[in-house]
Amino acid sequence: MNCQKHLFSIDPEVTYLNCAYMSPLMDSVVEAGIKGIKRKQHPWGVKGEDFFDESNELRNEFAKLINTPEPNRCVIIPSVSYGLANVANNLKLSEDDEILVVSEQFPSNVYPWRKIAEESRARIITITPPQTTENRTKLWNDYILNAITPKTKLVACAHIHWADGALFDLVSIREKTKEVGALLVVDGTQSLGALPFDVHRIKPDALIAAGYKSLMGPYSIGMAYYSEAFDSGTPIEENWINRYKSEDFANLVNYSDDYQPQALRYEVGEHSNFILVPMMLEALKILNSWGTESVKTYCDDLVREPITKLRKAGFVIEKEGARASNLFGIRLGAHHNMNEIKQKLVSFNIFVSYRGDAIRVSPNVYNDSKDLATLVQALTE
Ligand SMILES: Cc1ncc(COP(=O)(O)O)c(C=O)c1O
Repeated sequence: MNCQKHLFSIDPEVTYLNCAYMSPLMDSVVEAGIKGIKRKQHPWGVKGEDFFDESNELRNEFAKLINTPEPNRCVIIPSVSYGLANVANNLKLSEDDEILVVSEQFPSNVYPWRKIAEESRARIITITPPQTTENRTKLWNDYILNAITPKTKLVACAHIHWADGALFDLVSIREKTKEVGALLVVDGTQSLGALPFDVHRIKPDALIAAGYKSLMGPYSIGMAYYSEAFDSGTPIEENWINRYKSEDFANLVNYSDDYQPQALRYEVGEHSNFILVPMMLEALKILNSWGTESVKTYCDDLVREPITKLRKAGFVIEKEGARASNLFGIRLGAHHNMNEIKQKLVSFNIFVSYRGDAIRVSPNVYNDSKDLATLVQALTE
């Protein structure tokens, strides 16, 4: 695929390499949002079926993106913490059971586990990476696999680490969790849309993602997938639209004890958000038209040569295959100074993030080789 900068309104003076913070919106996504706002100027035009149709379409697009034939396992959520709260609400833990997380995981994927671990006197096991830069991610994955034992009840991790893009071997983690009967819950916030994720192949018990990063949607909407492991579970809220036959507005007070099918009980109340849903839908339609494999290849090709140049200048960056290309960490060599680097990047109008000891660079399809050349120039000058 070619650079898609023309679909966005990115200031030519800015080098935006910070999709992991938040993606810019495509112009057509902005238009979908404006149309959504204006809709409520004329509420007489909003019909009963409008509460359902676009949400359905959105679930279908997300199901396509993650390769599941079951869109009703995909639900609209407002945040990752919300999606994970539904998982935590249905975990049955006993004393000394273990929940496995990786070191410095995003807090929304740590606090729910800390809470339920405390309540049930279960233990959180945090897997830290090795102190070496040689084969760091490979060893880290080995540590994770070795830590999964019959005591493990849940592995909660991401597809890639949010701070430096280290790639977790979800296929092997899934295999090992299956062996011991543990759940696998994946945070796809920093990878979905930019890295292929195949539910059919990985078979996670749940997959949760915020929509405003590599999924290119607006803030305060995300998507979650829940497998059959949660089919008879309890959602964190009881709202009318998730109940059986909620489409029949005239009969809403003939209260139903049943939920909508599959995972729809876990969807957020007022999921038919007339602004955010059409925006998210437009973004996912475009992502699906590109294909996540193409986005990945685009990002791989974009960063390969610049990374080689940065390594020659003494920076430390994981090798391709062990990290993502849409998000990678640059660690400093002995002669580099982080404060000077930060100032330099500001003076070049380059936008990145700093997470842990790494400069976090997160390009996407709106970046071109000039953007990466500017980064290399600023870091090596
Ligand atoms: C890996 C990861 N998960 C989740 C989130 C957002 O979590 P929440 O939607 O709960 O605010 C972020 C935000 O930076 C993130 O990087």
